[in-house]
Amino acid sequence: MKWQPEFATGDAGIDDQHKMLFETSDQFRRTLEAGEGHRTYDLFLDFLTAYCEMHFSIEEKCMFARKCPVATQNHHEHGLFLRLVEKETARFREDGFDAGSATKLVDTIDSWMESHICRIDVRLREVLA
Ligand SMILES: [Fe+2]
Ligand SMILES: [Fe+2]
Repeated sequence: MKWQPEFATGDAGIDDQHKMLFETSDQFRRTLEAGEGHRTYDLFLDFLTAYCEMHFSIEEKCMFARKCPVATQNHHEHGLFLRLVEKETARFREDGFDAGSATKLVDTIDSWMESHICRIDVRLREVLA
């Protein structure tokens, strides 16, 4: 999935971070489709964990500082996403690579990103204007 202009938040740094997640997820999806997912899945999961820590913290600070009306909801949804990544990371460490689980994760990232950015993150526009 690609970043779309309607995902713009009004903060170029935050938009760049969203673009980075779409690009990395797309890249991993191509690796997965080429049957090579097992080679880089651990790196992809590490990226997701580091990305969540960095991006969620920056975006939440920005929303709370500007009293964005969805700041609390943003924090809550980030927590749910982070738990999903943690759960899959724990499953991977226990049982190893599984193409079905990896596909499910990238599908979930795409649908979560689209839904979350369009409903929540874009509301930064109201307070950044
Ligand atoms: Fe967010
Ligand atoms: Fe975001």
